Amino acid sequence: MSQPGWNPVRLSGDQGKTQPEKSPSAISVELAVKTEEARKAFEEVIANNPEFRVKPAKEAGPAKLHILELDDDLKQSFSFIESILQSEDGSEVFLTAPCLESGILLEAMRAGVKEFFPQPIQKEEIQQALEKVASRSKSLRHSPSTKVGQVIGVFGGKGGVGTTSIAVNLAVCLQKAGERKSVVLVEVNQHGGDLPLFFDLQPNHSFRDIGADLSRLDTALLTRILTKHATGVHVLPSGYDDLSSGRLTPECVEPTLKLLQSLFDYVVIDCGHVLDLTTKKVIEVSSSIVVVSTLIVPVVHRTKRILDLLRGSGCDNEKIKLVLNRYTPEEKEVLKETEEALKFPASWLMPNDYPTASGAINNGAPLVVHAPRSQVAKCFQEMAASMITGNQDQKESTHWVDRLRKIMIGRSKPRPVHA
Ligand SMILES: Nc1ncnc2c1ncn2[C@@H]1O[C@H](COP(=O)(O)OP(=O)(O)OP(=O)(O)O)[C@@H](O)[C@H]1O
Ligand SMILES: [Mg+2]
Repeated sequence: MSQPGWNPVRLSGDQGKTQPEKSPSAISVELAVKTEEARKAFEEVIANNPEFRVKPAKEAGPAKLHILELDDDLKQSFSFIESILQSEDGSEVFLTAPCLESGILLEAMRAGVKEFFPQPIQKEEIQQALEKVASRSKSLRHSPSTKVGQVIGVFGGKGGVGTTSIAVNLAVCLQKAGERKSVVLVEVNQHGGDLPLFFDLQPNHSFRDIGADLSRLDTALLTRILTKHATGVHVLPSGYDDLSSGRLTPECVEPTLKLLQSLFDYVVIDCGHVLDLTTKKVIEVSSSIVVVSTLIVPVVHRTKRILDLLRGSGCDNEKIKLVLNRYTPEEKEVLKETEEALKFPASWLMPNDYPTASGAINNGAPLVVHAPRSQVAKCFQEMAASMITGNQDQKESTHWVDRLRKIMIGRSKPRPVHA
């Protein structure tokens, strides 16, 4: 652990080195080893092994084999190794460190690391380990499966409508709903994004680090950049706001989301409320777009424009889900008129509960954790349940809002949208 920080160095042909021609079906390797001598040993053995190839930076999807060097921050390193192995079917991790300590070795085994190489590394040991990977990979080849996570973009009809509250709680509910599911919450709002405050996190890294050198984007870089919250949700803040320099570009957002999609089951995105080239890119990549609105006239007015723009740009109606936040049962007539004006039915009505919503934010805890028995929390749980892949046909709900809908409006569950 003589390294000052986990600062992965990529071996990918980007460094001007030419690799011998390898078959695209060769096992892809991502190498994040900072110590030069150790890195060279791995490079040499991989270069001489036709069954393995180094994954180019621009290649989509995760590598099959990750070779990492242990960082000072052991907790974060092992936590990310676990999430790589959990989210990437059939992938393997090798670990190297300048010294062999029994505690670290034990921790590495627990995290699921297949091979541990104390430095200086013996090349024969690398070769033997690679042979074992190749043999395991052959037996797995009959059932290949590459993860393609569900991308859910949450877009605000206007500032302050509750976009971040909804993105945060949806992500936490998705994480809680599936034990072996992985969820990442990404902030693309560059106009005063405040995602870390909702989790009481002070992340050292953000999208800004990815934007600084896009060619370094790979699983190892994400290892360093994502922050894991106690709920299990990984968080990627935007790092940009109105007062900072620079911009989060669509060129940065697209490959990042695609890589995250290959690593996580759910990618939930807080888009803020500004429709620009970057948020348009998010919308393009998203499998579902949750548009958040309220029953306040200026918000409805802008929501209508957003819905029209989304539909006008070819966005499939089925992809869009409308959430009306801060709803009270007395507003049933306004709700009816609003849905008619929008030519769009609301999929969910989120109850108005300012003390609970604000209390959660001020405590730096997601509402579903802060007040799990509240009506709002139950509504979030139902929303997440309906978005879980393969669970789109929601069960008959017993929730008060749905019962109210059934009685007053004559519908009991979200239905397909017809413009
Ligand atoms: N269901 C709700 N009932 C009552 N108040 C709510 C509800 N959801 C959110 N709020 C309140 O609305 C305010 C704005 O919430 P939030 O920050 O999530 O909105 P936003 O759309 O992300 O805002 P911004 O445009 O600043 O990013 C907060 O004070 C929050 O407590
Ligand atoms: Mg927000």
